[in-house]
Amino acid sequence: GKGAAMVTAVAYRVAAQHAERQQILNTLRLSREQLLDVKERMSEEMVRGLSKQTHEQSSVKMLPTYVRSTPDGTEHGDFLALDLGGSSFRVLLVQVQSGKRRNVDMHHKIYSIPQETMQGTGEELFDHIVYCIADFLEYMGMKGRSLPLGFTFSFPCHQSKLDEGILLRWTKGFKASGCVGQDVITLLKDAVRRRQDFDLNFVAVVNDTVGTMMTCGYEDPKCEVGLIVGTGTNACYMEEMQNIELVEGDGGRMCVNMEWGAFGDNGELDDFCTEFDHTVDDCSSNPGKQRYEKMISGMYLGEVVRNVLLDFTAKGLLFRGKLSERLKTRGIFETKFLSQIESDRLAMRQVRSILQHLGLTNSTCDDSVLVKEVCSVVARRAAQLCGAGLAAVVDRIRQNRNLNHISITVGVDGTLYKTHPHFSSIMQETLQDLAPQCQVTFQKSEDGSGKGAALITAVACRIKSEG
Ligand code: GLC
Repeated sequence: GKGAAMVTAVAYRVAAQHAERQQILNTLRLSREQLLDVKERMSEEMVRGLSKQTHEQSSVKMLPTYVRSTPDGTEHGDFLALDLGGSSFRVLLVQVQSGKRRNVDMHHKIYSIPQETMQGTGEELFDHIVYCIADFLEYMGMKGRSLPLGFTFSFPCHQSKLDEGILLRWTKGFKASGCVGQDVITLLKDAVRRRQDFDLNFVAVVNDTVGTMMTCGYEDPKCEVGLIVGTGTNACYMEEMQNIELVEGDGGRMCVNMEWGAFGDNGELDDFCTEFDHTVDDCSSNPGKQRYEKMISGMYLGEVVRNVLLDFTAKGLLFRGKLSERLKTRGIFETKFLSQIESDRLAMRQVRSILQHLGLTNSTCDDSVLVKEVCSVVARRAAQLCGAGLAAVVDRIRQNRNLNHISITVGVDGTLYKTHPHFSSIMQETLQDLAPQCQVTFQKSEDGSGKGAALITAVACRIKSEG
């Protein structure tokens, strides 16, 4: 009768909506073939970035870092380190001891950088940084001592020596004017001079990936790759000097800062990008740039999820088709929610409490299940893409050394990697699948960017004093 017909109609609608949701989610799912393709294209860009002829056009810049030797344990002394480019700005005092009591001691202070300063003029930004250094020296009772300083500056920089870094572009929402094309050490020195208060002895500009690799390398000499999955994403590794065409000399190896976040900027990822990725990119502070980073890192994943949820809701597939004002707000879906929602110990009730925080007070249990699925699909894709990139890196190291099989350690840091309940395991699974001849161990680095900068500074000081 009529009742049965209605039940059938409802069942039909439910099935149709389910299919529609899955169809949309499928655009965010990658097959093994697609991931192999990502690996292949990443390998090609690495070659193009290293070669003099193609370096200019290549999306992955493969920047020489002038870091060639790892600590040998004889370094010692007190060093200052600055860390700019992650979620906070820090000044650190790092005390390195050699010999039997080989050890690294650290004191640090965290400073906030106001949004206006991040997006104001370069002078304002570097004046603020120098103000923080002054405060730290005061706080530690060290004013007047001019310690060697390493600057972890986690943005793409062209280097022609260790203590120079010409900013190629800002990433991760930084915008300060008048800095691109300038040497950041000169910008800092100018700010120190303006303040006329103290002197600093600048030794090194260091990318956070390099600091992370060095920190892990201090304990494990097999650590020849550094990886960051935090606000942004990037990797570095030890490349053969003979392949680094931008640097003279053929012997030994040098660490290369890949700046892989820019992979895709020449369209290499267009086949895998969804409409959601395009929206996130269009609304960012650097449209068209850092496309790989925007599919992987903490600054963007929440935005990808939010855009999927907006689309579902507009199509009547979620929240009974009702959009909340808050969900329309850019940046409201923080990436930490992704980690929280996927933490297995959290019951669906907690997913609902996050949704309530987003102004979605009337969500149903089905809504929660779907939101969790969206989070999981977006995070999985990020971890797989990252694993595919890493597969290109470790396989290249293996081939460089003519080995059938290699065992290698990757030093890792970054909040997303460290707090997401599934990211690391999915990334490792992908890596193993795509680079079966490489046996990769992941070593979480504790405070790699600060400690690493100090270690690099220490090595440079040791070599200077030896030479
Ligand atoms: C961005 C920066 C890069 C940094 C990474 C991780 O991709 O361009 O230099 O290593 O973020 O912080």
